[in-house]
Amino acid sequence: MLNFLKSEGVDAGILKEIEKFRAEHPTEETLRCRIPEPRYLYYGKEVWEEAITALVCGENLLLVGPKATGKNVLAENLAAVFARPSWDVSFYINTDAATLLGTDTFTGGAVALRKGPIYRCAEDGGFGILDEINMAKNESLAVLHATLDFRRSIDMPGYDRIALHPAARFIATMNYGYAGTRELNEALASRFVVIDMPAITTEGLVKLLKREFPALSPAYADQFAGLFQDIQKKCDGGELSTKSLDLRGLLAAVRLMRAGLEGNRALELGLVNKSFDSFERQLVTDVIRTRLPECIRFEDVFA
Ligand SMILES: Nc1ncnc2c1ncn2[C@@H]1O[C@H](COP(=O)(O)OP(=O)(O)OP(=O)(O)O)[C@@H](O)[C@H]1O
Ligand SMILES: [Mg+2]
Repeated sequence: MLNFLKSEGVDAGILKEIEKFRAEHPTEETLRCRIPEPRYLYYGKEVWEEAITALVCGENLLLVGPKATGKNVLAENLAAVFARPSWDVSFYINTDAATLLGTDTFTGGAVALRKGPIYRCAEDGGFGILDEINMAKNESLAVLHATLDFRRSIDMPGYDRIALHPAARFIATMNYGYAGTRELNEALASRFVVIDMPAITTEGLVKLLKREFPALSPAYADQFAGLFQDIQKKCDGGELSTKSLDLRGLLAAVRLMRAGLEGNRALELGLVNKSFDSFERQLVTDVIRTRLPECIRFEDVFA
């Protein structure tokens, strides 16, 4: 991972800080299995530098951005780079203190605490990934206030107060303004430093495509990345909604092509049909047509 960051051009001084952190907080053998092995790498030097610096300084991170901007990929990559065990918590409307911190259970006739993911992070110096944090009710998240601010502690009624392990960090993700999300209250937001996640650059996307599909021809890698930029521009200009601006969908489409589906049909499944408005679907098809041929043949796409 460190070599990848070096090749991405991340500042050498910042990389030193990671090594220092890792030397100060070696991972216990029993927790190694919890260190993520990333399936994807995050591309974006500036975001990397900001995120690493914030974590080194002991801050918690809130990653805000539209769908498929790599929020979870980055969170996972960060835990891997810092070699910390990680716990993933998906927030939903009924997320409460018990889900996060733990609940009383009966074992062998006695009451014992079944530790929740936040509690485990606190004890083991984990990275807690608080996914879609704004899906939960703010009132239920108040239990995290002491954990996330300078107190760095968990105080559960009936149990001893525990201090957070010095390596523990929290990385939250959120989409803003989507159905089912709520406004994050200021008190909670104030406990994070916030990164506004940019869309992937064309250069980054080409790298992502080549890594994901080693057989993809360079010309088509450029074309697909260009297509994504074209759709992005139409969205910025207000001609299209962001429904078809879906990086996950583009990757899925290329996967379908690799499995033998004709390219335009694959793009229809992955991108065009993400919009349920026939006029908009036509617009996306037009964007595809201006860049790609009417028949996208397997042998042209994969060298
Ligand atoms: N900058 C980037 N670098 C690498 N991959 C990226 C980047 N941006 C998006 N992706 C790709 O987009 C896909 C979705 O990433 P991820 O699941 O992290 O998105 P997300 O921001 O959490 O989306 P959502 O809000 O829908 O949960 C992955 O395949 C990932 O590789
Ligand atoms: Mg996500």
